Amino acid sequence: MSNNIDLIQIREIGYLISAFLFILGIKYMTHPETARKGNIISFIGMVLAVLLTFIQNNFIVSNLWFIILGIILGSIVGSYLALKVKFTEMPQMVSFFNGMGGLTISFISFSEYFYKAKESNLFFIFSASFSGTIGMVSFIGSMLAMAKLWGYLESAKKSLTIRIFNLLLVILLFLGIIYLAISYSLNLNLEINKFIFLGLIIIGAVLGFSGVYPIGGADMPVVIALLNAFTGLAAAIAGFAIQNNAMIVSGTLVGASGTILTLLMAKAMNRSLLSVIMGGFGETSLTDVSKKGNIQEISYQDTAILLAYSKKVIIVPGYGMAVANAQNEVHELEELLTKRGVEVIYAIHPVAGRMPGHMNVLLAEAQVDYSKLYELEQANSEFKTADVALIVGANDIVNPAAKNNPNSPLYGMPILEVEDAANIIFMKRSLRPGFAGVDNELFFNPKTRMLFGDAKETLRKVINELKSL
Ligand code: TAP
Repeated sequence: MSNNIDLIQIREIGYLISAFLFILGIKYMTHPETARKGNIISFIGMVLAVLLTFIQNNFIVSNLWFIILGIILGSIVGSYLALKVKFTEMPQMVSFFNGMGGLTISFISFSEYFYKAKESNLFFIFSASFSGTIGMVSFIGSMLAMAKLWGYLESAKKSLTIRIFNLLLVILLFLGIIYLAISYSLNLNLEINKFIFLGLIIIGAVLGFSGVYPIGGADMPVVIALLNAFTGLAAAIAGFAIQNNAMIVSGTLVGASGTILTLLMAKAMNRSLLSVIMGGFGETSLTDVSKKGNIQEISYQDTAILLAYSKKVIIVPGYGMAVANAQNEVHELEELLTKRGVEVIYAIHPVAGRMPGHMNVLLAEAQVDYSKLYELEQANSEFKTADVALIVGANDIVNPAAKNNPNSPLYGMPILEVEDAANIIFMKRSLRPGFAGVDNELFFNPKTRMLFGDAKETLRKVINELKSL
């Protein structure tokens, strides 16, 4: 018995250490240069937490081999995905892993309720039912978000019916949970309650679907961060239900960081969280951009000359740079220009690319000096003094419709004000719109020159030309 007590104490101290490692890991992840270290530290914390969970009241958990088999299978699938997935598909993977977390929590809550509801207390009833349903909302919502990011699923039109339907589901969930609590207090038929609990999880699944389905376009990053916060919240509540400190701490960390990220993303896009949840972003129909005016093209030779004889160049990277995997070429161009005495900086929009920090990570990987990366507000004060704004595969984040067109779904989103620069060079393959599906008037601005082609190939040509100047 005293051995067991000792082991439990060791487990709790170990959980404290793993919580400390999670927090330290997050601290390191706040900067691209230390992010890798942060990942490894958090990984160690998680391995420790998983191993400690083997220690239960009766010494070592039952079904040990079954659990080990699960861990081995999970590790194989996780490692395979991590090694195979392209960087541009990272948001889908984040969504997938987040969804798996939600599903696991839902399963844990369900099995705990199924086996322990009778000998539990009111707090357990509340926490198990909340974590079970929120976990399921997060699972289905994340799977849907993943399908949308992969382009398998279109968004539904926003409609009052869907909103009312969702509201009814939320009310139903609350009523169901209150019923479970009351019937527990009055010691009513607990066998039926198991099916009611299952029903609540099914309602959670429907809510996950109908809640995320109408949300689309550029609102996806906010939704993914929000679902992340949901999974964290569900994990923390489930931690209370099964009295696992590691789950409470890690769930709270995920919930809090997901919430902060959600609010930051919403702010960066100038969208209220409510309007994101209500859905319907990116619904405007496209017009034929070719009818809107004349565009001016520029050759890679002229681009090289223009850049070489500039005093200040601001590079604006976007999703297209990630697709073309052109970050090394971008850095090489920056170094060549710097050697010629040109001042080169980067303007980084908070939602450039497809995930938070997308551009920062890619540019850090290409060894770009972090001090050259300017955030939105800082960068916007620099464009006025720039000779060239070189847009590498970006579109929505420089679209002036966000400022000028109240009917545009981008309206209100802060943008990089490249129009203030003396010249604008747009590197992309066509006149096609970006993620939000909105036309860009900037293509027709008299200051703009289009440099068509794959960003990596075009940059290579510009670099070679620059070397021969
Ligand atoms: P986008 O608006 O998506 O524009 C990217 C542009 O890159 C496209 O117009 C595309 O034009 C071009 N492109 C694609 N492949 C290319 C290649 N190989 N070479 C050269 N150009 C290429 O990107 P953005 O300006 O970075 O804006 C991000 C958008 O994504 C925002 O609407 C944001 O809200 C949304 N979003 C952001 C996140 C986060 S958290 N960052 C997550 C999900 C969604 P062509 O087809 O003509 O080449």
